[in-house]
Amino acid sequence: MSVIFAIDGPAAAGKGTLAKRLEAHFQLAKLDTGLLYRATGYKVLASGGDPEDPQAAEDAARALNPAELDNPELRTDEAAQAASKVSAVPGVRAALLDFQRDFAENPPALADGSPAKGAILDGRDIGTTVCPNAQVKLFVTASTEIRAKRRFKELQERGLEAIYARVLDDMKERDARDSSRSASPLAAATDALVLDTSDMDADQAFAAALDFIVAKNLF
Ligand code: DC
Repeated sequence: MSVIFAIDGPAAAGKGTLAKRLEAHFQLAKLDTGLLYRATGYKVLASGGDPEDPQAAEDAARALNPAELDNPELRTDEAAQAASKVSAVPGVRAALLDFQRDFAENPPALADGSPAKGAILDGRDIGTTVCPNAQVKLFVTASTEIRAKRRFKELQERGLEAIYARVLDDMKERDARDSSRSASPLAAATDALVLDTSDMDADQAFAAALDFIVAKNLF
């Protein structure tokens, strides 16, 4: 049986780290769905458009090519803000839905060529909208200040210039937009395990997720 893991939560809550560990542990194919929105936002910016223009945003989402997801520029905060803007456009979400569902239902083979045991998708609306039938749903969160501190540290480690107050403001702005939009806002599915990682390290978050998953007897 092919299983689907859905991991949702706000920015810098630790869902990417957790998704990577679960991917390796359970031999899953992983899709970071934020990259789809980042690539869409980036494409609009690169063509001189406005990410808040619904038509430009939807056209960019429809023209997206999976090869564009590898662009390192997608990791910048500029791309993140553009992503948050295009992701509020219902036409963008609709355009990206089939790709995400197809990945979840037909996960690609692993890097070593062996078949994946399932798919793991991380994002904002995977457990609620993209894969409401996922067998494993996790909602990973942490306080805004802790998430801003983590993002600030990450930017510094990557050698990028950053000001903490600015990172915190950007985080609040993005949280507000992602949670208040009418098209699939950021929300925990009712059957998700909510993991608040404010006082947890990556090992503790992984152990808590593992307890929840193992109890389901999926494998
Ligand atoms: O996870 P991330 O920081 O790469 O996501 C960038 C933006 O994309 C985020 O602010 C909201 C949007 N997004 C979304 O609306 N739905 C998803 N499933 C994933 C990301």
